[in-house]
Amino acid sequence: MIIEPQVRLFDIIKCLSRAMDLISPEVVNHHERVAYIAFSIGAELGLSVDEQSDLILAGALHDSGALSIEERIDFLEFETKNPYRHAELGYMLLKGFDPLAAAARLVRYHHVPWNNGKGVEFRGNEVPTGSHILHLADRVAVLINNQQEVLGQGNAIISRINEQSGRMFMPQLVEVFNSLATREYFWLDVASHSISSVLQGMAKLKTVKLDMQGLLCLSDLFRQIIDFRSRFTATHSAGVAVSAVALAGLAGFSERECRLMRIAGHLHDLGKLAVPVEILEKQTRLTVEEIKVIKSHTFYTFRILEHISALDTINAWGSFHHERIDGSGYPFHHKGSDLSLGSRIMAVADVFTAITEDRPYRKGMSRDRTIEVLRHMADDRALDADIVSLLCRNIDEINSLRKTAQKSSVEEYRRFVMQANQ
Ligand SMILES: [Fe+2]
Ligand SMILES: [Fe+2]
Ligand SMILES: [Fe+2]
Repeated sequence: MIIEPQVRLFDIIKCLSRAMDLISPEVVNHHERVAYIAFSIGAELGLSVDEQSDLILAGALHDSGALSIEERIDFLEFETKNPYRHAELGYMLLKGFDPLAAAARLVRYHHVPWNNGKGVEFRGNEVPTGSHILHLADRVAVLINNQQEVLGQGNAIISRINEQSGRMFMPQLVEVFNSLATREYFWLDVASHSISSVLQGMAKLKTVKLDMQGLLCLSDLFRQIIDFRSRFTATHSAGVAVSAVALAGLAGFSERECRLMRIAGHLHDLGKLAVPVEILEKQTRLTVEEIKVIKSHTFYTFRILEHISALDTINAWGSFHHERIDGSGYPFHHKGSDLSLGSRIMAVADVFTAITEDRPYRKGMSRDRTIEVLRHMADDRALDADIVSLLCRNIDEINSLRKTAQKSSVEEYRRFVMQANQ
């Protein structure tokens, strides 16, 4: 039986921030650290429960607009070059989802310096104090050296931050930080491997629960964060989701199951956030190592979503799309008997979308060639033969749904790129 998912907003946001921090060992736990520090400063200041919750959400998502690995690494420098672009893109991505609207505003200005009070405003807009808290939290986080014991670093970090009081940071917030920084637990929490569970306790503050509709909207936002990292992948999950839903409907799935399938389609490549954009976009032949990095993406999708038991079905349908009926897929080498109908549908939808979609370096396959390739994969016991037949019998209808979905996703992506280039 499929249970209606009821997921805490914070739990699923944590999945996204974890996925974003897989990109390099240098940014390990960065989003959760910033969430923890920002929350601690907010709590110490006596902000309201809602404001504290928004600080946690904003901290956990603040760099979601930073698309390439270089950009992410650059933000680890104490003074960054052009930090406003990723902050604006993060704002654009997040603001459309109501429960994240307030956090999105904080993200938008999280690199605005205090500049002796001029930082109350940026480009004519008011900068919330929460953004200044986020800025301070982010810079404290990047000053921590992961190779060294954390308590020994406290004094040096305190003096770097205090040198910038009034310039980069709001003096009142620096005072609050100074008082937090005298407590050992603060540093030990920040450096802890289990910072996740520490945050878990704090995030009980305001429990926003998402129902199916909320989850659907949020998964659509995740889809954009995953796919918009590269023009090579920009519309992929939109195509996979719509094809998988069409197949599920034809296979007799209920309306509710079809909605779960759509969410699974949006999330199926979540683990691609761990793949550097330089690999996603490489024009020349990939090395053996690079292929291994790409192939790890479904492993990460699975391991990240596994933390939320209400998403078990979505996870199984989304994460096993590179498994093959004869056990030759990856990374778990599940065989046909281990793969549910939903997982088999997603595998077919993924191959179908991948071969029919246009990519910047090649056109999608023709109708006849697509049928040929899919039938061949079914004969080889890679894909489920019944699902492939179902698709081939309805190929024109499904292909037109796919094209329409990817076309509207191209429009979204265009707007996103225009904003990025402003
Ligand atoms: Fe940032
Ligand atoms: Fe950051
Ligand atoms: Fe994939």
